[in-house]
Amino acid sequence: MTYSERLKKLPVQFFATLVQKVNSAIAEGRDIINLGQGNPDQPTPAHIVKALQVAAEDAQTHKYSPFRGLEELKEAAAQFYHKQYGVEVDPKTEVAILFGTKAGLVELPMCLLNDGELMLLPDPGYPDYLSGAVLANVNYKTFPLTKDNQFLPDYESISLEQRTHAKLMYLNYPNNPTGATADHAFFEKTVSFAKENNITVLHDFAYGAIGFDRQKPISFLETEGAKEVGIEMYTLSKTYNMAGWRVGFAIGNPAIIEALNLIQDHLYVSLFPAVQKAAIAALTGEQSCVEELIERYERRRNSLIGACNKIGWKVEPPTGSFFAWLPVPAGFKSESFADYLLEKADVAVAAGKGFGEYGEGYIRVGLLVDEDRLIEAIERIGKLGIFT
Ligand SMILES: Cc1ncc(COP(=O)(O)O)c(C=O)c1O
Repeated sequence: MTYSERLKKLPVQFFATLVQKVNSAIAEGRDIINLGQGNPDQPTPAHIVKALQVAAEDAQTHKYSPFRGLEELKEAAAQFYHKQYGVEVDPKTEVAILFGTKAGLVELPMCLLNDGELMLLPDPGYPDYLSGAVLANVNYKTFPLTKDNQFLPDYESISLEQRTHAKLMYLNYPNNPTGATADHAFFEKTVSFAKENNITVLHDFAYGAIGFDRQKPISFLETEGAKEVGIEMYTLSKTYNMAGWRVGFAIGNPAIIEALNLIQDHLYVSLFPAVQKAAIAALTGEQSCVEELIERYERRRNSLIGACNKIGWKVEPPTGSFFAWLPVPAGFKSESFADYLLEKADVAVAAGKGFGEYGEGYIRVGLLVDEDRLIEAIERIGKLGIFT
């Protein structure tokens, strides 16, 4: 069997190696504290599970869904955006239902770009953005996210060549992996940059619910003119601990939404209707479960940062997402430090390099275990004596 060139070009799953290493350490009977993953640890709120149960009992949900999903789910998404962000969207033309946003992120370059055309991606960034570029057979260039610029892109430093040729750009705030958030001024700059250079913007709002210190993350669509230049993708995976359910949506510019719907007409027949009903329950129901979740992550963040301070590790607290982006001490690279922590402290973390060149010098820690385990992880690292 020979595989297509397209398939052969897919990037190596950097984190597959980490998972293997962690699993073999666990198999040896070691008590590994795994801070390397991005999988929410809490269950889906009970009222959402109940909505799925009820819907699954209804034989109507056993049939094919309408091609582009349930109108009520699109209406629920539109209502949610209105309530949460004061943004008006037409549920009929400005919402597309996605099999999780990962699917949408991978589909979008195929929808908008021809072979060899250029897209711009953040470095460090969510690795699956690269998969979308490769599957669509388009070129990509990355722009650096550095601490000096609060992990936001510096549009001035994007070359004339790149701005002229790029057709699509991905952004993600609250950011995976850096935990940074964006402000209104940044999104205003983004709209101007996109208009001046005729670049479509995809804002990945995966961690849209998770902002700390009572700073609610901003939707890109709140910015004047945003809908003219792009869309946002919102997943239920993080907000409602529904990562396994595979449900999200794209929202914004109607022409881009139509393109996503069109490609999906050929790929799927939308999601299991009972999952869509549960998603409606999530978006339209009581949101106190989300507030509790944010408080939980914030307590964990505070414990982690407090523990780092105690051992003399100078770190910046994340302002959003459920990740902390911690600098690697002198004498280590991100991968060698991650290996060292697994080997010597039984603590698994994600090496920054796995998110791109500019991830070098950092490790990513997930706030996805309880506070006592987070503190214990940092205490174990403290005992190695590298920060004193
Ligand atoms: C930045 C970012 N975007 C998108 C996703 C995909 O989320 P889902 O496919 O579950 O909607 C993730 C998941 O980890 C993520 O971290």
